[in-house]
Amino acid sequence: MSKVLVVYYSQSGQARSIADSIVSPMIEQGVSVDFCRVEMAREYPFPWNRKAFFDVFPETFLQIPQAVRPIDADILNNEYDLIILAYQAWYLSPSLPMTSFLQSDEGRRIVEGRPVVTVSGNRNMWAMAQKKIDTLLIELGAVPVGNIALSDRHCNHISVLTIMDWMMSGVRRHKWGILPLPGVARSEIEQATVFGNIVAEYLACGSYDGMQARIVAQHGAEISALLVSTDRKANRIFRLWANLCVASPRRGFWIKAFEVYLYVAIWLMLPIVSVLYAVTYPLLWCRRKKYKTEVQMNYPSYRQQYKKTLNAESK
Ligand SMILES: Cc1cc2nc3c(=O)[nH]c(=O)nc-3n(C[C@H](O)[C@H](O)[C@H](O)COP(=O)(O)O)c2cc1C
Repeated sequence: MSKVLVVYYSQSGQARSIADSIVSPMIEQGVSVDFCRVEMAREYPFPWNRKAFFDVFPETFLQIPQAVRPIDADILNNEYDLIILAYQAWYLSPSLPMTSFLQSDEGRRIVEGRPVVTVSGNRNMWAMAQKKIDTLLIELGAVPVGNIALSDRHCNHISVLTIMDWMMSGVRRHKWGILPLPGVARSEIEQATVFGNIVAEYLACGSYDGMQARIVAQHGAEISALLVSTDRKANRIFRLWANLCVASPRRGFWIKAFEVYLYVAIWLMLPIVSVLYAVTYPLLWCRRKKYKTEVQMNYPSYRQQYKKTLNAESK
């Protein structure tokens, strides 16, 4: 019987419910599944208050680990065939609890030498966060074999409004009575069982070659090329802000300045960038399409497998 460990962090329960949906077909097929919640020594508030929400930015972005609570000895001593990491993007990076866990001795022990499927539930900017978590996993000696990333499919500005309302109130509701519900659609979470069936198939044979291509074909890692290019550019600017915040004796001031920058970037700069992007779209269509595919298959192990699948299909 195969054994799977789901390591997750979730404040609202969204990442956990995505993971539940994914593992449910595996459990039905007789796979043994254990769950382990990442617990911080100092938990982050949910609902958030503004100060805490922005204050977590520098350490999250720079992946400066914070103390996590010890993991159950039974889990540490168990031999798992596959690790599923369920997390979320915070500030274009994997959430601080997840990177803190991975950088702890226990985190390393759990993932080292094992295949890992990453699962995330985000607003919509997850691509660079995913790249960072894969880099971290590879550094830790783990083998990232697949990624399922679900996000809010509403337009970018609507999802900014609704997610902020959710994060600050702790309630998943229709903001102003008219905006859509925030987060990943319930129907998509329920349909994530389809990915569980795919992963179960590869788990049973012990090889994950070609799995990511099938996940992508089922829309398991959908991205827009505009969001990825924004994500990449914003990463460069966020790095400057994050370094400034941690290095300065006036941390509070710089965090406040970052908050103002973020509003300007989202509400003023992003609309201009989107228009420019649309205007240049026909000219750069081929390059952007290629780039999009590369991001979905971004990671060394995936890329190899993807090429193999393409080669096999073209024969
Ligand atoms: C501090 C913070 C920063 C966030 N930054 C991003 C982000 O950069 N990109 C994104 O797609 N979602 C972002 N989100 C939304 C989360 O990815 C996630 O959807 C939400 O927190 C719900 O996750 P959970 O309830 O499972 O913890 C952020 C949320 C928080 C709390």
